Amino acid sequence: MALERTFSIVKPDAVAKNLIGAIYQRFEAAGLRIVASKMLHLSKEQAEGFYAEHKERPFFGALVAFMTSGPVMVQVLEGEDAVRKNREIMGATNPKDALAGTLRADYADSIDENAVHGSDAVESAAREIAYFFTDAEVCPRTR
Ligand code: PPS
Repeated sequence: MALERTFSIVKPDAVAKNLIGAIYQRFEAAGLRIVASKMLHLSKEQAEGFYAEHKERPFFGALVAFMTSGPVMVQVLEGEDAVRKNREIMGATNPKDALAGTLRADYADSIDENAVHGSDAVESAAREIAYFFTDAEVCPRTR
């Protein structure tokens, strides 16, 4: 299985609930390593650019308002099968459909405020990582 990187966001609802450490613990317990991390308060332009593929969706305005409502943590996770593994840890987009023990089942209140984002493919992960991090900000483990 190849070593992969994926991009993750702890969304404003989860940051407001003081869940950064609890969520990072889930990543690490699953064998994913945090190789880049920072806190940001997204601008409207940053959020609109990040979610540009959804701009025609009816929830786009609400999504941008939510994602700019407070600080987020953005991180790069590295590990074997990292994209799929992170999606598994997160659970379904709608917390009502998320399996017990996943982040969204445990921490999300609704599909509109669902605690975490994770890339859906290796290609989107590369694009999303580059949207928020320079190469120098990503620190692969040397030991
Ligand atoms: S979908 O509906 O299957 O196409 O959803 P998806 O492509 O996985 O992601 C859509 C992102 O928008 C966020 N969002 C919503 N999705 C669906 N319905 C509503 N009402 C909604 N509100 C917000 C959803 O959380 C996804 O965000 P990310 O950050 O990618 O998880």
